[in-house]
Amino acid sequence: MSTFLSGYSIQRWLELCPQGYLDETVYGHGPDEKEPEALLANEPLLEDAIRTTVQLVVGERAALAASSGLVNCAPDYPSKNFLATQTLDEARHVEIFTQRLYDLGVRSEDLESTIDRYVNPNLVKFAEVLLEKVEAKDFVAGVVGQNIVLEGMAFSVFEMMETASRQLNAKFANTLTGTIADERRHVGFGENRIGSLIAQYPEKKPEIERMQAEMSYHMLATFSAAFSYTGENVAEGRRVAAEAFAERGEEPQPITWHGTDLSAADAHQMEAVLAETVLGEFKNRLGRIGLDYQTPIAPAA
Ligand SMILES: [Fe+2]
Ligand SMILES: [Fe+2]
Repeated sequence: MSTFLSGYSIQRWLELCPQGYLDETVYGHGPDEKEPEALLANEPLLEDAIRTTVQLVVGERAALAASSGLVNCAPDYPSKNFLATQTLDEARHVEIFTQRLYDLGVRSEDLESTIDRYVNPNLVKFAEVLLEKVEAKDFVAGVVGQNIVLEGMAFSVFEMMETASRQLNAKFANTLTGTIADERRHVGFGENRIGSLIAQYPEKKPEIERMQAEMSYHMLATFSAAFSYTGENVAEGRRVAAEAFAERGEEPQPITWHGTDLSAADAHQMEAVLAETVLGEFKNRLGRIGLDYQTPIAPAA
């Protein structure tokens, strides 16, 4: 466990993260970067951005509750130390996405009511399945649910959003870049730490596999609801993007993510590439830690 120890120490975290890729950022982005005027001035697109950001805040609040809860049920100090760094990462993610809501015009006194209004109920159920395991102090199930399932999902969602935002919203894209780097580290811990524990407690497998299937079900339902909203705004988003490119005298470029051009795909195709990517990652990661991926039943459309 010695490479594991040094790879996930607080010292390593300081060097990589606050003194590394977050150095000189403000709420995760460059100090002078702002949300684009064209977004702030367009009511449907602004509402869409608020709705999307609310899901990020809710997902990160769940990650904060899970990683902090797992500190106290971790069986060893290297894991506790790593989870303490992760707790701060997740608190930072909650803060930077909350700050984005403020940047999009949400007033601080309206934060909770805005979250209640826009939160996807399927995402709440997804988080509840995980937090039940954490509350029961079930370390192995909690780390699989948090560091493999929740963060595997977050990683791909952030990557897709980062790719889609890179050309016209550098502020949001850069905010996501730092969180992607954090999530990559969290997912790596899940894989490295849990494989040996699964081998040690094989009797836990069926219950953990059931949890994964249940979380995957709620995740797919979350995607399906989210992309039905996206579908309503795709055309408007492309019109505004075309205007922004014309103003800059640039031609819009294809935005390819896992083989799909996000600048031309419809909402259904976007949902399909995201679901396929996340489930493919689950399968690989679970296989590496000795768990069998369980296909969730497809949520009703
Ligand atoms: Fe996070
Ligand atoms: Fe994370």
